[in-house]
Parts: sequence; structure tokens; C-alpha cells
Amino acid sequence: MRLGILISGRGSNFEAIANAIARRKLEAEIAIVISNRATAGGLDIARMRGIPLRVIESRGMEREAYDKLVIQELRIHEVDLVCLAGFMRLLSASFIEAFPNRVMNIHPSLLPAFPGLDAQRQALEFGVKITGCTVHLVDEFLDSGPILVQSAVPVVDDDTVETLSARILLQEHVIYPKAIQLMVERRIKLQGRRAIIREEDAE
Ligand code: GAR
Repeated sequence: MRLGILISGRGSNFEAIANAIARRKLEAEIAIVISNRATAGGLDIARMRGIPLRVIESRGMEREAYDKLVIQELRIHEVDLVCLAGFMRLLSASFIEAFPNRVMNIHPSLLPAFPGLDAQRQALEFGVKITGCTVHLVDEFLDSGPILVQSAVPVVDDDTVETLSARILLQEHVIYPKAIQLMVERRIKLQGRRAIIREEDAE
């Protein structure tokens, strides 16, 4: 399966995916990394690893026009599955139509709780005792779409946004490659919003 990874920043989830591929835990290939910001740290990771990358600046662009450019680039690289990894932009309906049930995202909360920006801060300020992260399929709405894999992370009394985010991030790096591998193995069946995961080795 050929992956197109979309980033806006640090790129640690992209790196976790690349590591899982290198360790043969994930049977996929990163065809292209696309960043909407030229300063994204993740671009250096791609450069160091010799992974094809492309900057398509989004600033000042209409959503549809921008998405068209990204779709074009993904098509050129024959991408099968689009993985948003800290890509901080909403996608248009035409993007979703171009890759039906083939766009995934990771979000640092147990959705549907705390969508949007600063999910870890939202969780801390709300006072939840358990938060976590979610890999889900993307639709045109914010942090919406069928949930594929979640991992719970306890909130401890002396947590700050930084300590909580760091613990959640460790789990993000586990569940994102895992969710992609489920797609590779075609073990996910959608029943409405529900993603039913077939047992390993089941017929
Ligand atoms: C991650 O925590 C990811 O879950 C979050 O941005 C961070 C990107 O880190 N994404 C969202 O909040 C999406 N709504 P990374 O660039 O190191 O992967």
C-alpha cells in the first residue's frame, strides 16, 4: 500500500509510521510526504530518510484550489491511502470524494471528546481522569468520521499540558501504524459509523 502523508509540523507521527515500516511491522511504503508549511520539522525527517517530499504552501489559498493541488500530487505518486499526521487543515468534500474511506487522521483525545485545537489542554481543563488518542477515517467535518483505533491515557494530578501531551504522543505512535496495518490487511469493515475489526487470521 502506497501512503501519502500530510503534515504541518514536527512530524513525529510520520516518523513513527516510517519506523514501523523499517521494522516490518507495517507493510506499506511512503510514496510522498506533503507539508502545507515550508518550516515543518517533519520535512527534515523526510530529507534524512530519503523519502520524497513536497511543500505545498496553503497560506492564502482557497480550500478547494489547495486540495486540488494536493490531490494532483497524491495521484502523481499513486497514493492508495492518505494519512494526516498533524495536518492542521480541514479537507474539502471533493478531497474526501477523491479518496473515499481512504483518508485517516490521528487526534490527541478520545473522540468525540475534545475535537479541534489543543485537545490535551481541553481535556486537562475539563478535568477528565482519562483521555487518550484516536485514529479515525476522515470526512469533511472536524475530527469526525468512523473511529478505527483508540488508546486510553490516564490523567494524573500533577499533569501539565506538556507531560500529558507527551504521554498521549507515545500512544499515538503505537496506534497509528497499527491502524494503517489494519487497513493494509483489509481487516476493517464499516457498518455505518462503526468500524468492525476482523480478528487476525480469521477467515
Ligand atoms: C499530534 O499530537 C496529533 O495527534 C495532533 O497534532 C500532533 C502532531 O504531532 N493532531 C491534531 O490535533 C489534529 N486535530 P506530530 O507532527 O509530531 O505528529
